[in-house]
Parts: sequence; C-alpha cells; structure tokens
Amino acid sequence: MILQVALDAGLEIPHYCYHPGLSIVASCRICLVEVWAPNPRADNKLEPIPKLLPACQTPAGDGQVVYTDSPKAIANQRAVMEYLLINHPVDCPVCDQAGECYLQDYAYQFGRGVSRFHEQKLKQPKKDLGPNVLLYADRCIMCTRCVRFCREVTGTGEMLIEGRGSHNQIDIFPGMALDNELSANVIDLCPVGALLDKDFLFQQRVWFLTSTPSIDGITCSGDNIAVALAWAG
Ligand code: SF4
Ligand code: FES
Repeated sequence: MILQVALDAGLEIPHYCYHPGLSIVASCRICLVEVWAPNPRADNKLEPIPKLLPACQTPAGDGQVVYTDSPKAIANQRAVMEYLLINHPVDCPVCDQAGECYLQDYAYQFGRGVSRFHEQKLKQPKKDLGPNVLLYADRCIMCTRCVRFCREVTGTGEMLIEGRGSHNQIDIFPGMALDNELSANVIDLCPVGALLDKDFLFQQRVWFLTSTPSIDGITCSGDNIAVALAWAG
C-alpha cells in the first residue's frame, strides 16, 4: 500500500487507523493523498484520479505519482484534525499520553492551530475495562485499532463499538472483562490517550522517562526488552 511504501522510505503520511499488524479499515481518513496514475486507455498518460485516495488502502503501482502535501491533501488533513478535536476534551495537561500522542503531534504538524467550535462538547464516560486497562472514552478517536487487535491478534473479541455517529463508543461485551494475556498491548496500540495503563496512571510525564536495554526477567523467554525508567532528579 502507498502508506507502507512511504513509511518504509522514511516519508511521513499521517495515519491513525492503519497498523501494519492489523486489517485495513481506512476509517480515520487522515491519510488521504492525491494520486496521479498512468491511464492505459490514453497511452499511459499520467492523469489525476479525481478524488483523494486513502494511502493505507491503495496499492502502490508503477508510474504512480503521489502528492501528500498538495492543496487538496492538506485541506483534508486539516479538516480531519478539526473534526477529531471537536469533542476531544484537550486535557493534555493531565493525560498520560501527552508527549507521545499522535493527536498532539498531528494537530501541530497538520492541524489548523485554532478551533472554530464554540458549542458544547459531547461528554463521554470513563470505563474500567479490566484489571490493566482504563478507557477515557472522550479522548477516543474511534480508530478501532483496539477492537481489531482483540479480534485478529488475541482472538478473544471482548471489545466492540457501540452507538452511532458522534455517540460511537468503544466498550466491552456485557459480562466480559478485557483480561486476555495480551490485553495491556491495546494501551500501546492506542494512538491517543484513550486507553490507559492502571499501573502507570498519573505516575510520570513521559518526557521524564529514559529507556535502557534489558532482558525479560518476568517470563522465562530471555527476550531483549527496553525498560522505561522514571527520572528521579
Ligand atoms: S480507544 Fe484508542 S485504539 Fe481504541 S478506538 Fe479509541 S483511539 Fe482507537
Ligand atoms: S490511516 Fe488511512 S484511513 Fe486511517
């Protein structure tokens, strides 16, 4: 796909719902790009495809020219960021994800810089999903990475999307808990601060953490891992 080719080549195209380990849903729409492709019916003359295409779901092809920063692509990126932030609480000062959040990064790189929304924001609840994970639903951008992870990777399928339109919410099926062996991975998969680690909640700002190479001492795998250390200075 165009997005993966670009990422492999070190080129940034903003993306939320795409993850190389999960199925492609092309739902967040921030990765839309302008594509020019050879037209076989016109002597392979390079012609623009009239509408923007999702880079995450469009195969890369020979002779294609892809614009990620054309006026149309930039207008879309700004519009998507504006929509995503309409109901977002913008509570970065108390959010564990601040400093490593793709909403912050993309708002800075691709957003409008100001909000035109003056109406009342929709308030979504906080939910206890299981022994490791909390959901702050009003920070969720509905990328569905967490839902797809539980269906496609762990195969446990505890998570779902309920409601419609702006009332969409991530939830778990009644009577279930997010308690599979890999459940805490959804915290890392979540590109924003919606899924939170109960252990790490309000413990430290991420810019005070350092990382050091280590060996997994919890399981008997002996894997090489990176350990995050809190700055005590
Ligand atoms: S909770 Fe996070 S990973 Fe799940 S849909 Fe919302 S933003 Fe995506
Ligand atoms: S990353 Fe392509 S639509 Fe979400």
